[in-house]
Amino acid sequence: MGGNSIGKEFTVTSFGESHGKCVGVVVDGCPAGLSLSEKDVQIELDRRIPLDSKIVSGRIEKDAATILSGVFNGLTTGAPISIVVENKEAQPSDYEVVKDLPRPAHADYTAGVKYGRFNDYRGGGRFSGRVTVALIMAGVIAKRLLRTVNVDVLAYTKAVGKLKIGESPSLEEIRKHKYDTAVRCPNLEYAEKMEKAIISAKKEGDSLGGIIECIAVNVPAGVGDPLFDSLDADIAKMLFCVPAVKGVEFGAGFEAAELKGSENNDAFQLQGGRVTAFSNNAGGVLGGISSGMPIVVRVAVKPTPSISKEQKTVNLQDMKNTTVIVEGRHDPCVVPKAVPVVEAAVAVVLADHMIRAGFISKILDGRK
Ligand SMILES: Cc1cc2nc3c(=O)[nH]c(=O)nc-3n(C[C@H](O)[C@H](O)[C@H](O)COP(=O)(O)O)c2cc1C
Repeated sequence: MGGNSIGKEFTVTSFGESHGKCVGVVVDGCPAGLSLSEKDVQIELDRRIPLDSKIVSGRIEKDAATILSGVFNGLTTGAPISIVVENKEAQPSDYEVVKDLPRPAHADYTAGVKYGRFNDYRGGGRFSGRVTVALIMAGVIAKRLLRTVNVDVLAYTKAVGKLKIGESPSLEEIRKHKYDTAVRCPNLEYAEKMEKAIISAKKEGDSLGGIIECIAVNVPAGVGDPLFDSLDADIAKMLFCVPAVKGVEFGAGFEAAELKGSENNDAFQLQGGRVTAFSNNAGGVLGGISSGMPIVVRVAVKPTPSISKEQKTVNLQDMKNTTVIVEGRHDPCVVPKAVPVVEAAVAVVLADHMIRAGFISKILDGRK
């Protein structure tokens, strides 16, 4: 298949399918001496599933993480770290129909064209949201590495369908409240409305999309390798590897196109001997290099493809127009589950770039 590894010094290889034996990750290039346990991984995996199952798929996997290699006496050894979780709740029979009747907006059609009869279509195979568990596990390691240099990466739900929080919440609010709500939105008033909107879309046999914002704080100025390994380019590439992500923007993003230079430019100022800026329309990246301002990136997540409304499709066996009603257990909105995935994706890219730039040393001393 190819294309399942990413990163230059901190490399991540994802493996596993939705209905195969397991989903797993191999992380190579993690410095020795980082404290890491199965419990650390488990905490993040448990956060992946919002407690309120009314807004997620009925497939609730327990996801017990097993670290197979690379950790000795609770510390990383510098060798590749491999972590797996078993798939226990798969119901492959739900997917027989999509073999010949590709679901609109899912990868059934394109994967079928590319891999033919070898394609593992069960539960979306390699294209299932389930595979993002691998990224979350890599993200646990990346986030612990980043914490050794005081970098924090935080994502939250900014919008579900047309319901969008106006002002960004403070970092403190995100830290404190995002896991209080099933939709992963720290604005409790909006969280309730978003949840209701998801439930009502589900009742109609439909789905919703939304926006996730991710903020990385304390990233020092000078991280990123222009031209082709620019920090924003690598973050955007990684985020587009998250299924259902259809747009990525930094800082003012698409709105910058409507501003004048005088409105968009982030004027510099000296603050405590450090160069900072009055505003952050650039989203913390200038010329592909971090500026020292928070990195602010947003992703647009499309509505879940699998809906129970009847949809037009083509029967690939007899090549005739037909319709499909998608069976199986699906998330009526991908956004809540994708929040920790986006956080992990950004953390993995930052860890790789910061190791490359020498901001994270190759030997640590048991720090978190
Ligand atoms: C965490 C997560 C969970 C997802 N759950 C579902 C789901 O239950 N049903 C579904 O049809 N798509 C789901 N998706 C989206 C599909 O995997 C995705 O739309 C599909 O692979 C096609 O890829 P694309 O949308 O990037 O083109 C999920 C995505 C993520 C990130």
